[in-house]
Amino acid sequence: MSASGKSLIGLWLYRKGEQWTLKEGVGGPRMKSHPTPLMLSRPADGVHRNSVVFSLNNQVGGLAKALHVFEDLGVNVVHIESRPKAGTEEYEILVDVECDDRRMEQLISMLRREVASINLTRPLNPDSDLPPQTPLSMSASFDFGDMPWFPRKISDLDRAQRVLMYGTELDADHPGFKDPVYRKRRQEFANIANSYKYGEPIPRIQYTAEEIKTWGVIFRELSTLYAKHACEEFLENWPQLVKYCAYREDNIPQLQDINVYLKRKTGFQIRPVAGYLSPRDFLSGLAFRVFHCTQYIRHSSDPFYTPEPDCCHELLGHMPLLANASFAQFSQELGLATLGASDDDVSRIATLYFFTVEFGLCRQNGDFKVYGAGLLSSIAELKHALTTPEKILPFEPEITCREECIITSYQNHYFFTDTIEEAKEKMR
Ligand SMILES: [Fe+2]
Repeated sequence: MSASGKSLIGLWLYRKGEQWTLKEGVGGPRMKSHPTPLMLSRPADGVHRNSVVFSLNNQVGGLAKALHVFEDLGVNVVHIESRPKAGTEEYEILVDVECDDRRMEQLISMLRREVASINLTRPLNPDSDLPPQTPLSMSASFDFGDMPWFPRKISDLDRAQRVLMYGTELDADHPGFKDPVYRKRRQEFANIANSYKYGEPIPRIQYTAEEIKTWGVIFRELSTLYAKHACEEFLENWPQLVKYCAYREDNIPQLQDINVYLKRKTGFQIRPVAGYLSPRDFLSGLAFRVFHCTQYIRHSSDPFYTPEPDCCHELLGHMPLLANASFAQFSQELGLATLGASDDDVSRIATLYFFTVEFGLCRQNGDFKVYGAGLLSSIAELKHALTTPEKILPFEPEITCREECIITSYQNHYFFTDTIEEAKEKMR
């Protein structure tokens, strides 16, 4: 251990009986024990838990001098560790203490003379029954070990944009594969999505007459089917989407308008995306109430078929339910469950997302009704699912998570719950 502490790696002190002890194999000074009852019980009145974070001066004995300040003042130290300092290659020292305000002021005052910089944090309400902050909850640089990286704040989604399929490259069997005009157009949409950063307004698209015509064909067919087959939660917000977001047969709604509407309604936001995101990245967006939305439309040669999500799928299938508070919560919880989860768990949750949010059914007034966006944006599969009741099974997460997700043809099975709430509860 260097005297300055700059090269400390994982210094931990822990309490062994009444003694403070260094973690095995780590050299360094030992602190005296503090056999005070405060260490083993709740803080007394007027005594608060605080965390002091400081950087050491680059000098011999810097850490020892700093720790002596705690000892000299008789401040009760309950935890100490070194950790990487965010954005630098240096280390800082975190010390959790329990003491009253007067002693804390003394501590900070004396410590300032011994260290390079210092920060103080404390619980928002010291009198609450909440447990004290932990290094995990208060640190921006906690070591998550082998846990997969995940966004910690909404702007981190800028770094979670792995497009797996159909970003700019189309498969040979894609309806637009041999159409250079369509492919050039797709490149324009991909450029918008790939350069988008959190907080920016979503660029408006001047859709072509051909694109609007394709949308119109799908819009007309689907909107007549919704009245009969869509669940109540889907239908309740349709008039608002027409009013505020210009859902019309002769107009493709703009993502930015829907973004404003949803944000006010349920806190959900839209983010443009170039194609199929990795399940982990897509689901992590939901954790922050961000829905990744494609902006392009399918090829005009086959309005009733698309091998990938397009704006018809997103705007017609997904948006109405994201405006429902309960469904928005359901979506966010699915996303939260994936943050830092293993690849296997993300895969299982993605399958459950697929058979609920994309292909789920519920029962209302004695009939199967649809809430899955994959069904609500596919005329053929919507009709297929509702005319093959033998394929509709009860949703049981333990069983459903083993079902194969089929992208380019009908599902082998569909799953239902009595209500969307029931799906949410079972998922929990
Ligand atoms: Fe979808």
